[in-house]
Amino acid sequence: MELHFILAIALSIVAVVPLAFALRGIARTQHAGADGSWTTPDSERQVERLVWHRTYNDRERPPAVRCGRYRLLERLGAGGMATVYHAEDELLHRDVAVKLIAKRFAANLEFVERFHHEGRLWANLTHANIVSILDAGYTPWDFLVMELMDGGDVRTVLHCRGRLSPGQTIHVVSQICDALTFAHQQGVVHGDVSLSNILLRRSDGTAKLADFGLASSGAEVDRRNPGEIMGTPGYLAPEVAWGGQPTPQSDLYGLGVVAYRLLGGAATAQTGDPRATTPLPTAAPRLLPLAQLRPDLPRHMVMAVQQAVALEPDSRQESVAEFHAQLIGRHERPLPVQLAATRLRKAVRQELPRAA
Ligand SMILES: Nc1ncnc2c1ncn2[C@@H]1O[C@H](COP(=O)(O)OP(=O)(O)OP(=O)(O)O)[C@@H](O)[C@H]1O
Ligand SMILES: [Mg+2]
Repeated sequence: MELHFILAIALSIVAVVPLAFALRGIARTQHAGADGSWTTPDSERQVERLVWHRTYNDRERPPAVRCGRYRLLERLGAGGMATVYHAEDELLHRDVAVKLIAKRFAANLEFVERFHHEGRLWANLTHANIVSILDAGYTPWDFLVMELMDGGDVRTVLHCRGRLSPGQTIHVVSQICDALTFAHQQGVVHGDVSLSNILLRRSDGTAKLADFGLASSGAEVDRRNPGEIMGTPGYLAPEVAWGGQPTPQSDLYGLGVVAYRLLGGAATAQTGDPRATTPLPTAAPRLLPLAQLRPDLPRHMVMAVQQAVALEPDSRQESVAEFHAQLIGRHERPLPVQLAATRLRKAVRQELPRAA
């Protein structure tokens, strides 16, 4: 009797577990198809997912060596939600970067949906200072393919150099101003402007903005969990840290912090949280006055940066373009941007290990 009972339980587990996976696969596939995502045939996707779920568990699974036609060569870095690899496109014979969603999120329908949603917004932004999305796929699980930025990210440059000169800062920040102005004109908010999301090209020092990871177009704002706050602590505008929607003004705050750190140094000192009663660990810290850290800076630069990182959105510049005009002192003597660009190019070449 007892044996029968045990056999019955074992049989139901054998029958129910694959069924549960199949149903989950179908749910995901149908959703992906319904919102017009880029994935190829539903049945294929479903089978791939089932095979993966049945074959491996989280700890044993070896790192993927291929994502579709892209052969993963080297890990470039990892963030909160994905790992980025240098990869080879075996069809077109070129180097690319593959952003593979973190394994722990791959079975989370809502997260994968958001990843795709963001990927689509990003893929439709074509600009010289926005990292291009080249492709996307779902084998072994969801990934984006980007152009490879072989100079790495600006956070690494800053760690190598300590801080940048005014001209070098303008060289980087001006390009990101262009990218953000363009995105805002298209109704897209970046939502996570930070040093690690600014990438460099080694050959000419071009800076590009990556990871429209929290991007949301005006029409498609889609934050499913109102209590959930995403972004990089330290770059988050106070109003977003307090649960508000990211806006062009909060992107401006993030860019202001980027400029502040480039000029003030990587380990920039901060005073305590100005709203210390907040329960949110991500609340924006108050930054020490830039003039105190860099008394050598031109006054218009200090004022532009300080205004961009104002706690109240209304106290900031009206747009990223206005911030840019102030930063470069449009009505004052321009800084030697070209000279700075040459120096930055040289620094990138000398001080960074090759990403490619
Ligand atoms: N297109 C790319 N080309 C070259 N390197 C890249 C590219 N995209 C990202 N990287 C590298 O991979 C690292 C990890 O990127 P990822 O976006 O996953 O995390 P992050 O930007 O550090 O943090 P976050 O979770 O806030 O995005 C980056 O810091 C960067 O050095
Ligand atoms: Mg990133």
